[in-house]
Amino acid sequence: MEVGRKIIVCLLMIITMGSYRIEGREPVLHRVGGGRYTWDPKINFTNWASNEHFYQGDWLYFGFDKHIYNVLEVNKTNYEKCVDKGFISNITRGGRDVFQLLEAKTYYFLCGRGFCFHGMKVDINVEPLPPDNASPIVPEKACSTRKMNQIKLSSVLLVLAMTWIFL
Ligand SMILES: *[C@@H]1O[C@H](CO)[C@@H](O)[C@H](O)[C@H]1NC(C)=O
Ligand SMILES: *[C@@H]1O[C@H](CO)[C@@H](O)[C@H](O)[C@H]1NC(C)=O
Ligand SMILES: *[C@@H]1O[C@H](CO)[C@@H](O)[C@H](O)[C@H]1NC(C)=O
Repeated sequence: MEVGRKIIVCLLMIITMGSYRIEGREPVLHRVGGGRYTWDPKINFTNWASNEHFYQGDWLYFGFDKHIYNVLEVNKTNYEKCVDKGFISNITRGGRDVFQLLEAKTYYFLCGRGFCFHGMKVDINVEPLPPDNASPIVPEKACSTRKMNQIKLSSVLLVLAMTWIFL
């Protein structure tokens, strides 16, 4: 009973550590809308985006039917007014399209052909990387050092957890 509860607490701790490691370290792929084909008028993208953290170097994934929808990057004015003319870039390719958030700024995306008026728009506020991982995309060296640290940290945690469970 007691040991069982301790094991659960430990598992929760390990899971928490895991998600800390993922967030903001390696570039993350964000599925816009939360799923495989969720660039869709049914989704509330404001709600979706407010539960995500976007860091410089992360990727967006847009999954949609290319015969119906598209994805355009626009400026703030056109975003607010749902204007799909004079866009900054056209992200539409095959309907499983990605876009890398290279700058720490707000990006604006919408679906043309009138779907923006049905809520198919999203603004993505990209935060700069924390200083301890200022080199997000590049070197293998930083990666391996980081992995080493993670491995060390995990083993220390594991030993602590085992000690705690069996004492
Ligand atoms: C946004 O782009 C439109 C043209 O597509 C332009 O007329 C407008 O001035 C731009 N707004 C800003 C804030 O850059
Ligand atoms: C965006 O690009 C796709 C694929 O290249 C093309 O089929 C589509 O017409 C473009 N959309 C606009 C609005 O330019
Ligand atoms: C999304 O949800 C928020 C709050 O839950 C609401 O204020 C907003 O109007 C919704 N947006 C759309 C496009 O339905």
